[in-house]
Amino acid sequence: METQIIKADKNTDLEKAGEIIKKGGLVAFPTETVYGLGGDAFNPDSSKKIYAAKGRPSDNPLIVHIAEMASLDRLSTDIPDKLYRLAEAFWPGPLTMIIKKLPDMPEETTGGLDTVAIRMPDHPVALSLIKAGGGYIAAPSANASGRPSPTLASHVAEDLSGRIDMIIDGGEVGIGIESTIVDLSGEVPMILRPGYVTAEMLERVIGPVETDPTLMKKTEGGRPKAPGMRYRHYAPKGDMQIFTGAADHVTAMINEKLSSETRKCGVLCCDENAGLYKKGIIRRLGSRDDMSAVALNIYRALREFDDEGVEQIYAESFDTQGLGQAVMNRLLKAAGFNIINTEGTK
Ligand code: TXA
Ligand code: MG
Repeated sequence: METQIIKADKNTDLEKAGEIIKKGGLVAFPTETVYGLGGDAFNPDSSKKIYAAKGRPSDNPLIVHIAEMASLDRLSTDIPDKLYRLAEAFWPGPLTMIIKKLPDMPEETTGGLDTVAIRMPDHPVALSLIKAGGGYIAAPSANASGRPSPTLASHVAEDLSGRIDMIIDGGEVGIGIESTIVDLSGEVPMILRPGYVTAEMLERVIGPVETDPTLMKKTEGGRPKAPGMRYRHYAPKGDMQIFTGAADHVTAMINEKLSSETRKCGVLCCDENAGLYKKGIIRRLGSRDDMSAVALNIYRALREFDDEGVEQIYAESFDTQGLGQAVMNRLLKAAGFNIINTEGTK
């Protein structure tokens, strides 16, 4: 299959792309978080094609993207008040909410679960495409399974060219890590994946929110509640270690490792420390005072390390306040929770 690539801005006519979706084809498109790989959420064959194109296990449910609040009616009759309050505060935006679904939504889309994950993205191209494509687009991140999520159309082309009908190039995304996922189907809302919308931001609107305890540390027998968080994705090809502790200890220990390591090394660090490393390919993620820059650069840096054949990655750690929690969750997952505490205690 030849993959057509089109450039788009907010005024581009997306009728043709919408037709592809309606006919059961796949279109990758920009959102504010990462690029998504879209198909008609109500067409089980489209969802099967999404799994096949990504090489993704089919028990890992997809997020259904909508463009209007009225679209909720076809998804659920059991919509909690908290969804409306959070939608009012954060939609369109980087928040996915899980609720009980209606039987019409094919199990191919929801991985056989009785719940559905829903998001209204904050991106003009995404919103136009959803409308042109019939209102309900199932879309995981548009990377091959196991690769970092795409923040540029070229990342999508690298992973999925020849496997999907179209890629809409809307330039670099704004946020760079996937949406926050909050499960509203149980007693107490629970964050299944941290993102740009933090626990504190959610709590200000709906009161107490729990966080899946397996997201930030390796737990004995602990299983993340979102199926997709169980796989070691966001994974670079090289080995990766994260160093915690006082900043000067971290840079000293990474320099020590760099000097003794014979394999090709990469360093992921903040702007402030970038000049301190003596060897290796240095990728600065951004200033520690600007966690949104750090979030935007993580996946791109990991892909660049892959492209350059980096075999060992050393990463600094970041404070887990606010957006830092989502940043550290992605780094920890990329490293398979391989952490070295430079203070010596475990
Ligand atoms: O920012 C985003 O959310 C991007 C853009 C394209 O919107 N999409 C995205 O989709 O990250 P994906 O498929 O890569 O991640 C969806 C996550 C997976 O971890 C999946 O297991 C979880 O959401 N998920 C989806 N439906 C669920 C459900 N009903 N219950 C629990 N987890 C669910
Ligand atoms: Mg993904």
